[in-house]
Amino acid sequence: MEKLRVGIIMGGLSSEKEVSLNSGRNVYDNMDKDRYEPIPLFMDERGRFWILPWQLVSQNTTVDIVENLEKKARHIPYDDLSREIDFAFIALHGKYGDDGCIQGLLELLRIPYTGSGVLASALGMDKHMQQQILSAAGVATPRSVLIVEEEWRKDSAAAAKGLIKNFGIPLVTKPSREGSSIGVTIVRDSSMLEEAVESALVWDRSVLAEEFLEGTEFSCIVLEEDGLPRVLGVTEIHPQSAFYTYDDKYMPGRCSKFTPPKTIPPAVVERIRREVLKAYSALGFRSYGRIDGFVLNDGRVLVTDPNSSSGMAPSSFFFEQAAEAEMLPSMIISELIEISRTIHGRKKGPL
Ligand SMILES: Nc1ncnc2c1ncn2[C@@H]1O[C@H](COP(=O)(O)OP(=O)(O)OP(=O)(O)O)[C@@H](O)[C@H]1O
Ligand SMILES: [Mg+2]
Repeated sequence: MEKLRVGIIMGGLSSEKEVSLNSGRNVYDNMDKDRYEPIPLFMDERGRFWILPWQLVSQNTTVDIVENLEKKARHIPYDDLSREIDFAFIALHGKYGDDGCIQGLLELLRIPYTGSGVLASALGMDKHMQQQILSAAGVATPRSVLIVEEEWRKDSAAAAKGLIKNFGIPLVTKPSREGSSIGVTIVRDSSMLEEAVESALVWDRSVLAEEFLEGTEFSCIVLEEDGLPRVLGVTEIHPQSAFYTYDDKYMPGRCSKFTPPKTIPPAVVERIRREVLKAYSALGFRSYGRIDGFVLNDGRVLVTDPNSSSGMAPSSFFFEQAAEAEMLPSMIISELIEISRTIHGRKKGPL
């Protein structure tokens, strides 16, 4: 029997391209090769696809890969992609990767793919829009205000004063659409607020200011089974830094994660599971997702960061929670591919 040719898309145009390379090569290494033919598909900074020889997948950075593309890789124009792969495993993160852009392209090319469709992916990326939808669905989210660049520039000092009056100190600023904690600041001194907003505006033209949450962070992978989403596991996170930073997320040994949770009581874990499923459905996520939140010190459960995709490095929540559910990396990768194929087989128009 012909094996399904699975293009693993990695790299891309976002600030998270190195994280994506790590995800992509780990998915490549762990894909069941008796069942699938994995094809490493690198997306460069101009959005072009290249099929990489497997040797290039082990390069340290996307820059190292880019240097070798012309010599060692094969450029695949968009039109030709459906002749090269039968299915796309999206291991991209961030803008153009899990925000609906690549999903739209794959829809036009008639290539089924992992993860959510165009709208749900866009919502998974946009922290302001997702909060509107979650609130309407009765899922608790942090109190926040959207700061639009043009408005901010008119009188940033007055705007900053207003934010401090609204939220007090500390407060949190973050780009509307980013990931991996990029551009996030916990503002602990009012004189730092303007700089914090500016550092978030580097990444997007709007920024969220949020109330500062005190409590315990959690992350849940949701996976669909026969069309029904289920929470794979709940992981409690104890960052080493003052918050869960880029380094805490990706540097070996930086932060402690507990699956199942170590200090969150079972009844609260049940509430987390319910809220996470509500959030998943409200945003229209499909096949899988990763939903993060806080258990506040007063016991309330808040959803802070629903993501339509997940990091896929060896120690990511995705593989950690799969292991807790007795699934090897190869097993959950296969399951995600098959779930996604079924979903795409049943869709009416774009997912
Ligand atoms: N309102 C808040 N109060 C306290 N800490 C916060 C708040 N918002 C974010 N943080 C901290 O910043 C981290 C990153 O924020 P957030 O999850 O919104 O960003 P992200 O870049 O989308 O992350 P991911 O890579 O998980 O998608 C959180 O894990 C948490 O530690
Ligand atoms: Mg996120």
